[in-house]
Amino acid sequence: MSLTVTHQLPGDPTARDAVERIIRVDHAGEYGAKRIYQGQLAVLGRGAKGPVLRHMQAQEQVHLDTFSDLIARRRVRPTALLPLWHVAGFALGAITAALGERAAMACTVAVEEAIDEHYAAQTATLGEDEAPLRATIETFRQEELEHRDIGLEHGAEQTPGYALLTRAIKAGCKLAIKVSERI
Ligand SMILES: [Fe+2]
Ligand SMILES: [Fe+2]
Repeated sequence: MSLTVTHQLPGDPTARDAVERIIRVDHAGEYGAKRIYQGQLAVLGRGAKGPVLRHMQAQEQVHLDTFSDLIARRRVRPTALLPLWHVAGFALGAITAALGERAAMACTVAVEEAIDEHYAAQTATLGEDEAPLRATIETFRQEELEHRDIGLEHGAEQTPGYALLTRAIKAGCKLAIKVSERI
């Protein structure tokens, strides 16, 4: 495997493989996000947090559909790890929800903070030739921040072990991002 060192400046055309990695990992991430909310809804769907969880899941579905469309239109190979994210995303959602509504919200805060950083880093590398993709990612980043704020408003920080839980989930997200870019 060869590593290419790029010195990307704002406005430079974006290398094709870099764009493919972005589409691949974002498709994987939105797939995982949808599965997390499905896992949470399996446990909490009938409870007081059902409507807000369904709102976030619906937005994740739009994000996923957008990247699924990009995967198809631009002939990008999706990550081979979708079956893993199918199971792991649902499990993360269901387990945190089983710990309680606040733990589920802490999961959302952790995931969305990781995605915010990830999307912000991506938009900084995309050139003018990829302005539409950059705008899409920026729109989604704002919605992920809305999800983080919903988590905070619904008592995420009051869950026992909040710091440890969110640190572990963020670390897991960052690892998932790294492998989904490549595999
Ligand atoms: Fe999303
Ligand atoms: Fe989200």
